[in-house]
Amino acid sequence: MNEVIPNHVAIIMDGNGRWAQNKGLKRTKGHQKGAEVLKKISEYVYDKKIKVLSVFAFSTENWKRDKEEVDYLMDLFIKAFKENFKTIKKKGVKVVFSGVKDRLSKKVIDTMDKMQYETKDNKNGIFNICLNYGGQDEIVEATKKISTLVKDDKLNINDIDKELFSKNMFNDLPPIDLLIRTSGEYRISNFMLWQMAYAELYFTDTLWPDFNEEEFDKALDSFNKRDRRFGGVKK
Ligand code: IPE
Ligand code: IPE
Ligand code: MG
Repeated sequence: MNEVIPNHVAIIMDGNGRWAQNKGLKRTKGHQKGAEVLKKISEYVYDKKIKVLSVFAFSTENWKRDKEEVDYLMDLFIKAFKENFKTIKKKGVKVVFSGVKDRLSKKVIDTMDKMQYETKDNKNGIFNICLNYGGQDEIVEATKKISTLVKDDKLNINDIDKELFSKNMFNDLPPIDLLIRTSGEYRISNFMLWQMAYAELYFTDTLWPDFNEEEFDKALDSFNKRDRRFGGVKK
């Protein structure tokens, strides 16, 4: 049987802290290893001809962590984005960010803007990085944009539909086909709620810093065994 390649894969990259703590290291070491894993996996994903990859880099809830860890993560984003960037650019992938900019430093925002700008015309795939992102916030923000259009008489209430909502999300992305969460947690943690409506969910105990191409293939194998009925009946 031919392998079905999902169009949009999303990953909740979890378990960096526990990976480091298990080894007697500081949590930040786990984030460092996690960034290396993301670089490898993103290349693998686009080589597999998957069109859209979304990753959860930092949630709006992650500000609750110690300042030292948050500061480390912000610096790491700048470094990792730059390192990742060359390969992503070479592969002709467009980089987009989902989330809100408030609380992010100018340095982080500048790096994000540069990546988006320099890849905006790329057509081979989309790399959606969710940074300072919350799924409920995204729906609230879309609702505000749509309400403003109605208020300004630019939109009729009866024309509000799912497509319009999708277009008003942080980015207009196709639905998620496969969601992967590492580290043995069975929750969504406020990630891409709108886009996940009919996603196949794959959970693994592997901690993100131990995740690799083989583990990704296991998720794809599992996806291939699913019977996606979308509410219908199998013929
Ligand atoms: C995921 O790993 C990375 C981020 C949330 C930024 P964690 O840091 O949540 O690792 P655990 O869950 O504490 O092990
Ligand atoms: C989700 O992981 C956010 C990211 C992977 C960036 P968390 O570790 O923050 O989520 P919870 O606390 O387990 O829900
Ligand atoms: Mg975690």
